[in-house]
Amino acid sequence: MTVHFIGAGPGAPDLLTLRGRDIIAASPVCLYAGSLVPEAILAHCPKDALVINTASLDLDAIITHMQEAHAAGHDVARLHSGDLSVWSAMGEQIRRLRALDIPVSVTPGVPSFAAAAAALGTELTLPGLAQSVVLTRTPGRASNMPKGETLANFAATGATLAIHLSVQNITTVTADLTPAYGADCPVAVVYRASWPDERIVRGTLADIADRLDAGITRTALILVGPALAGEGFDESRLYAVDYDRRYRPQTADSPWAGWSHGDD
Ligand SMILES: C[S@@+](CC[C@H](N)C(=O)[O-])C[C@H]1O[C@@H](n2cnc3c(N)ncnc32)[C@H](O)[C@@H]1O
Repeated sequence: MTVHFIGAGPGAPDLLTLRGRDIIAASPVCLYAGSLVPEAILAHCPKDALVINTASLDLDAIITHMQEAHAAGHDVARLHSGDLSVWSAMGEQIRRLRALDIPVSVTPGVPSFAAAAAALGTELTLPGLAQSVVLTRTPGRASNMPKGETLANFAATGATLAIHLSVQNITTVTADLTPAYGADCPVAVVYRASWPDERIVRGTLADIADRLDAGITRTALILVGPALAGEGFDESRLYAVDYDRRYRPQTADSPWAGWSHGDD
């Protein structure tokens, strides 16, 4: 018996991985974070599966369900939105399960920042503009930020910021970022990326707060940085015609000449 943590993706049911789908289909118990995991994904559960929405449960109650499944020898599919590596609350569940000697597995999912970038048709690391992406958030009722993890500190790097759980704080976000990025820095807010009601609002640090309407209060990502303009960047060297590389040696005396995949 294993508790299988599965990243259920950003919303569109077909952005679930094949591995995730197959584990769900083979698990007699499914616990899902109902606030963001699409119900359509539950169609992969076996017909007689025990399916529980954990949105209203506390950690003790969730672990009790897992212990009961363990006692019955039933695998559990544990679904969280997006990927499990960020803001999934998987860490505290795994810590409890390890203490109880209950085996776990982890299957990654498509994170919401990737779905938001796809909705924008944008690469977040454009040569000459940004080569790093910071996944961050602002403080909320449930979580404080560790000292040092401030928007101003991240802004000082000039990286592309993907700010989660923060659209309700948009005026604080823009105020904190403007000194480093400038008021005309491009911003995109992507609401419910990949869901049927997905929306995109573009603007700058100066005007994005005014462009958002009252309907966008949660489940949105704020993407900030020069890369969001999608212009004024360099071409990468990767596909440059004269770039000497393993897969495309340029001369007979290239260190890569004669290399084949078998050498790697
Ligand atoms: C609890 S976190 C979950 C993050 C998730 N584990 C991930 O990999 O993206 C919830 C936050 O993620 C972002 N989010 C999740 N799904 C989203 C989506 N489909 N579109 C835009 N933002 C989303 C929002 O910022 C939301 O407040």
